[in-house]
Amino acid sequence: MSLASNASLVVLADETAIARAVAESFVAKARAAIEARGTFSVALAGGSSPKAAYALLATEYRDALAWGQVRFFFGDERCVPPDDDESNYKMAYQAMLGPLGIPGGHVFRMRGEDLPASAAVAYAAILTSELPAAHGAPTLDFIMLGMGPDGHTASLFPGTDPLTGDDELVRAPYVEKFGTYRITLTPRVLNAAYDLEVETAGPSKSDALAAVLEGPYDPTALPIQILAPSAGRLTWLVDRAAAAKLTALPP
Ligand code: 6PG
Repeated sequence: MSLASNASLVVLADETAIARAVAESFVAKARAAIEARGTFSVALAGGSSPKAAYALLATEYRDALAWGQVRFFFGDERCVPPDDDESNYKMAYQAMLGPLGIPGGHVFRMRGEDLPASAAVAYAAILTSELPAAHGAPTLDFIMLGMGPDGHTASLFPGTDPLTGDDELVRAPYVEKFGTYRITLTPRVLNAAYDLEVETAGPSKSDALAAVLEGPYDPTALPIQILAPSAGRLTWLVDRAAAAKLTALPP
């Protein structure tokens, strides 16, 4: 598999460099969207990778844009209450949303405390009511994603064809490896976005990154390979450690 014409790979020195690049990219995309449409909708990534970028946005970049024009969504969520340490919402709130004083009405969290299937249906309704629809799905300006060492992204995990039931906008899969349910945007929504950005760092991701970018196309085994924005762009922001096993690096 090689990069599509609307995809690019950026290799940076380390996680610190990536955090700054993610923050800079967020600000640039937000400014452009607010300039063009008066608003910016972003789905936040969970996990640990984006924390440093969120913290930068809440500190060094807090005066960089009109935060009141930004609406925050989520790419996925664990099925836990919002005050649980596992919650992606809690991580984002503590790192960025709280310190920036983002009003509750501008944050659309997935309700991990509810029955997973009900939470998925409810979130699909929120996407439909809050976002314009292009390419047949609610369209986010920007979706921030990470990648697991197994090639998952959001909560699309190996073993299930990520296109299963792709008429859905949000899905609540049971994840065997964790013995729990998750809530996740489906490829239909991911690939409708104007901008997708995957932030991946560290040696633990090097095997997956090489398999995803240079191995055969097999999204059931490597769900992140499903990322193929229909009209937007996909940017991989990786560090040298994660890129260590790639045979072809950008110039
Ligand atoms: C989650 C994320 C998940 C994450 C990857 C990478 O809920 O955990 O949505 O897809 O982005 O697992 O996680 P790290 O950034 O912690 O490596």
